[in-house]
Amino acid sequence: MEKEIRALKARKNAVVMAHNYQPMEVQALADVVGDSLELAVKAKETGADLIVVCGVRFMAETAKILNPERKVIIPVEDAGCPLADFLTPDLIREARQRYPDAAVVVYVNSTAESKALADITCTSANAVRVVASLPNDTILFGPDANLAAYVQRQLPEKTIIPMPPGGHCYVHAGFTLADVETARKKGSMVVCHPECLPEVQEQADLIASTGGMVRDAAGGDEPWSVFTEREMASRLRVLYPGRVFYEKPEAVCADMKKISPADLRRALEREEHEVVLSPEIMDRARRAIERMIAVGA
Ligand code: 13P
Ligand code: SF4
Repeated sequence: MEKEIRALKARKNAVVMAHNYQPMEVQALADVVGDSLELAVKAKETGADLIVVCGVRFMAETAKILNPERKVIIPVEDAGCPLADFLTPDLIREARQRYPDAAVVVYVNSTAESKALADITCTSANAVRVVASLPNDTILFGPDANLAAYVQRQLPEKTIIPMPPGGHCYVHAGFTLADVETARKKGSMVVCHPECLPEVQEQADLIASTGGMVRDAAGGDEPWSVFTEREMASRLRVLYPGRVFYEKPEAVCADMKKISPADLRRALEREEHEVVLSPEIMDRARRAIERMIAVGA
């Protein structure tokens, strides 16, 4: 399988990008593994003719928006992100009407249509930096209300209004104070993603995006309980074999688990499933994503 995939990649001048939550056997076949920001930046820089995104739909859409002239495919068509579905274009339009002086910041875990209505996008790696870069005092922020609360704590001088108030990721909202207690009993640090609930974030030793976790784990040797999708701990164990990382076995993103090596091979062979978006939506969404990339990580 690995040899075939390598040959297909070479023949088609393809690049395979995988998110940190992808099954380890898919990550092992990828040219780039990273968080959403890293995948977006690398997608923009690639010289490949074919971009294969092993992740969920919004990640493939972001790659397409940044590379409108290239073919971008996702091996499984219905790999979505339930968090993204919380934010509809109508919600953004209504919020803008109610708060005409506010800036609209849309998390990349969103549809292309929502990004097209944003002033700027952000990821969990740069949300604070993006909001801090804006002159507006009031910020409409969606769809993740927990990430919005995290940004609010870092930037008390701003007023962050979540769109909608209860937008969340079911995987991260599944972490509780009981999990913090379990981690403490194991004698580990609590490292959580900013999509976790505010009361869990308050107890954490470190809050980071998945890419931030990869970087921060390079220092220190204490055991970590990793409060995010469970594959992250597997990735950290591969990168730092001497260190202990605990996952929560129930913390599974079902959509991230839809892609297998066989799906990847089929996708490369057939060049399926192509991401197709309207040029107008792409042009508007690209402006918001490029503004984010210019702000930096
Ligand atoms: P990162 O941007 O940290 O990779 O997170 C993406 C995501 O989907 C979190 O659930
Ligand atoms: Fe979406 Fe949550 Fe899965 Fe991330 S872990 S892709 S936010 S459902």
